[in-house]
Amino acid sequence: MAVEIGGIGHSVKRKEDARFIRGRGNYVDDVKLPGMLYLDIARSPYAHARIKSIDTSKALAIPGVLAVITGKDLVPLKLEWMPTLMSDRQMVLPTDTVLYQAQEVAAVVATERYIAADGVAAIEVDYEPLPVVVDPIKALQPGATLVREDREQKDNHIWHWEVGDKAGTDKAFKDAEVVVKQDIYIPRIHVSSIETCGMVASFDKVNGKLTVWMTTQAPHAIRTVIALVAGHLGLSEERIRVISPDIGGGFGGKVPVYPGYVLAIGASVLTGHPVKWIEDRSENIQADSFARDYHITAELAAKKDGTMQALRVKTVADHGAFDAAANPSKYPAGLFHIITGSYPFAKSFVEVDGAYTNKPPGGIAYRCSFRVTEAAFTIERLVDVLALEIKKDPAELRMQNFIPPTAFPYTSSLGWEYDSGDYGRALKLAMDKIGYADLRKEQAAKRAKGELMGIGISSFTEIVGAGPSKHFDILGIKMFDSCEIRVHPTGKAMVRLGVKSQGQGHETTFAQIVAEELGLPVGDIAVEEGDTDTAPYGLGTYASRSTPVAGGATAIAARKIREKAKLIAAHLLEASPDDIEWKDYKFQVKGVPAKSKTMQEIAFAAYTNHPQGMEAGLEAVDYYDPPNLTFPFGSYICVVDIDRGTGEVKVRRFVAVDDCGVIINPMIVEGQIHGGLTMGLAPALYEQITYDDDGNIQGGNFMDYLLPTAMETPSWETGKTTTPSPHHPIGAKGVGESATVGAPAAIANAVVDALAHLGVRHIDIPITPWKVQKILKEKGVAE
Ligand code: CDP
Repeated sequence: MAVEIGGIGHSVKRKEDARFIRGRGNYVDDVKLPGMLYLDIARSPYAHARIKSIDTSKALAIPGVLAVITGKDLVPLKLEWMPTLMSDRQMVLPTDTVLYQAQEVAAVVATERYIAADGVAAIEVDYEPLPVVVDPIKALQPGATLVREDREQKDNHIWHWEVGDKAGTDKAFKDAEVVVKQDIYIPRIHVSSIETCGMVASFDKVNGKLTVWMTTQAPHAIRTVIALVAGHLGLSEERIRVISPDIGGGFGGKVPVYPGYVLAIGASVLTGHPVKWIEDRSENIQADSFARDYHITAELAAKKDGTMQALRVKTVADHGAFDAAANPSKYPAGLFHIITGSYPFAKSFVEVDGAYTNKPPGGIAYRCSFRVTEAAFTIERLVDVLALEIKKDPAELRMQNFIPPTAFPYTSSLGWEYDSGDYGRALKLAMDKIGYADLRKEQAAKRAKGELMGIGISSFTEIVGAGPSKHFDILGIKMFDSCEIRVHPTGKAMVRLGVKSQGQGHETTFAQIVAEELGLPVGDIAVEEGDTDTAPYGLGTYASRSTPVAGGATAIAARKIREKAKLIAAHLLEASPDDIEWKDYKFQVKGVPAKSKTMQEIAFAAYTNHPQGMEAGLEAVDYYDPPNLTFPFGSYICVVDIDRGTGEVKVRRFVAVDDCGVIINPMIVEGQIHGGLTMGLAPALYEQITYDDDGNIQGGNFMDYLLPTAMETPSWETGKTTTPSPHHPIGAKGVGESATVGAPAAIANAVVDALAHLGVRHIDIPITPWKVQKILKEKGVAE
């Protein structure tokens, strides 16, 4: 029976893949409308410059170029600035100064994509270069080049944020037997989704209705933002329809609003034609929101035997020219204060300072729940630094310190209430799977022969599912989520949600939740997301929040339907509702299996034979405000071999044991973990965006930005433990980001472990062959 239903726990094949693998997906660039025009963007070659003049005459002379839009054209429309998600403001187009290389300077609207590009090439801008600051530490020093002249505050400091017990933590450090301290830089990287950003904006002048097809992870919030920003132009929320069609990867990069979106809407309103804007790859990497870029100094205080006592962390966060991070309003450094991780620090204190620099804006939550990757990397690296200091095996040190399973719900010294966990069980399973004891023996033997082999552990704790609305909002919009279910007379169902899949398989997993709750086969349940005209309001998909929040809404909406269905069943079975029970995916008279009604029979009756006095139909909606976040966790172990000559790091084995509570679809979760691990390998060994002193980007295309492919990716080995969330309606926690959060520290720890006997304590990621070879040369290992 259960197999036919395909409910929770079944590896149902992804429903959406039928169209994806046949090339029948419908992405923004697939949208083609009659009379559609194309928009392309001219960008700044300078990181900081005064615009003396913009000459658009040659561009306008090209046949097919219909308009060129500059910042000055946007002033009368009050659209030259737009709000960011972090209550800062960002230029749509500059009126006098550009603040980073690749910043949007002007837009060309033309009848063909290629003509628009010719128009961009023909725009002549006279720039006066200005001094540039790219290092956030220097940017915060007195007398540094001022990035934001438009602000009243005449320095580059954005905000200071702190949490924890400063005095208590300082005292714990003063009294501590052992203190370790480590500077850690988590470099700027980019999500680099397969699909770049884009929009088709279509303004219907007659009806005053704007329809946009857009690469957005949060269509409802975007609709509200458009109404707030462009309401004065007559764009009113009930006449705005945001459609987020199939999306080729978001990973947090498709949460912010980019100037291109605003320009496409403006161009459509101006011309009355549909306008398409699609970024190319370099524009995507060079100008769209970046991730990470945290300069961290972390200290850990412990007893000589390794008992961890206190944690102190100071961070400078580089936000580029505008604070366009996608964090909940209350938390400018995201959920960085999950940094106490899997350990019961009695005292801790964290402070973060945001800085402006002449670099693109961002600080997005790249496949992590708002700065959780930065936090997990730091604590898991620091634990290994302590292990080296006190000469203790890093697995043993972790086992000694983990928050015990009996301590949950556990309130951390930085204020989070962890819902459930069993960290020792996960690490033990990972150690057994990989054969930890044997690997340590092999390492010792290899070391004796001069070979370089390392073993690294990461026992991370995540925090996902924003959020309880009392703490979480974005631009004031509370972070709940929603689900609406309609069961049709023939027993088929339509499920609509406020979240939006970008490849995670929601059409399958949310159908499985409904299947489980209502006893309808998963194949009979259609799931729709991403159309603000049809789906209930929600905050969208990022930060692994879909299952914790919309998953809760789905289960509860289904349960509301089941409540009503029970009354109809009682009516049909001529029994009291008290005598009816839900068993084997059917309602039956208690103890009389022969007297039962399926959900299909009940659905038909809901429209044809419902009890008098009851409303017809079988549908429900739920707006779910979770009581708490969920805290998935895992233990990862990585084995690396290092080439003594070239410094190349090879990941020989990688075992990932994850715990995301109750699993809806094991195959999808496995896929999420595989993809996430590759996205964790990437910053550990390959990816980084750097800038020279003039603010020129180095790594702004796939020739220079090494995105790992199947060639670089090892064969991942996975395992699981199941510790349900006690407060989630189906016991599930999020999982989409766990592997990206947990993997980098395991890899970095393995590399440092391979070199520890040479006196190496830390290497900043990405750990490139060049960096390792340099160390090996310094230590006299490599020639
Ligand atoms: O918000 P996002 O969809 O990115 O992340 P998620 O909620 O962690 O879910 C990623 C995918 O894994 C979705 O298809 C989920 O329904 C599925 N999942 C699952 O099957 N079981 C879980 N316990 C968690 C997620």
